[in-house]
Amino acid sequence: MIEAHGLTRTFSSGGRPLEVLRSVELEISAGEFVAVAGPSGSGKTTLLGLLAGLDRPTAGRVIIDGQDLDALTEDERARFRVNRIGFVFQTFHLLPALTALENVLVPLELTGRAADGRRTDSGQRAASKRASALLDRVGLGDRAHHYPVQLSGGERQRVSLARAFANRPRILFADEPTGNLDRETGARVAALLERLNRDAGTTLVLVTHDGELAGRADRILRLEGGRIVEKAPRAVG
Ligand SMILES: Nc1ncnc2c1ncn2[C@@H]1O[C@H](COP(=O)(O)OP(=O)(O)O)[C@@H](O)[C@H]1O
Ligand SMILES: [Mg+2]
Repeated sequence: MIEAHGLTRTFSSGGRPLEVLRSVELEISAGEFVAVAGPSGSGKTTLLGLLAGLDRPTAGRVIIDGQDLDALTEDERARFRVNRIGFVFQTFHLLPALTALENVLVPLELTGRAADGRRTDSGQRAASKRASALLDRVGLGDRAHHYPVQLSGGERQRVSLARAFANRPRILFADEPTGNLDRETGARVAALLERLNRDAGTTLVLVTHDGELAGRADRILRLEGGRIVEKAPRAVG
């Protein structure tokens, strides 16, 4: 369901080209839980952005559900993403002027419209209810009306997780979703992600430095020198 062929991404760094990804080949099946590992600066965030269609490759292709992302215009890509792909950013990307609840409502607002593009009262109520339930699920039911600045790092991360779940994406990309959390909150977020993968069959592609979490993945893709150098199978047990 996710394929990358010859995936290359070059940035220019002080006039010199910096080749972050070099002809990466990969295939991820529907329902898989794949961990992406590698040292800082190895291109993990870059890879996720390319696979999710948020960034364009210098060369090569990303194909999702048979659709070559390169064949779409930017608008078409955005529409393709909204019903299919959730993304949890390393830096949360919450909208500061919106409350926790309103942030979670954003993707629902983008899709929950009547055929004529208008929003119905019942649709709005259903969206609000769903957003509240999602905040409950990440343990933030009592923070719904807080603004991001009034939330701790871990709470912001959980709001961004609730937002990523909002449209029931079949693919979820998460960039170090437990990296900024204390142990207990991190374990809770990890459990939520794993449950989503196991129960809802959501394909999960997760960058993590947490060896224990990565060890529970079906596969670990390790980035080094712009390539995937290791595909360790899940440890037995
Ligand atoms: N927009 C950009 N412009 C220039 N260099 C970038 C850009 N984004 C990332 N890089 C560089 O690409 C390399 C890989 O970055 P990144 O994918 O964020 O690594 P990781 O997530 O594995 O730490 C780093 O050296 C980073 O400085
Ligand atoms: Mg990163």
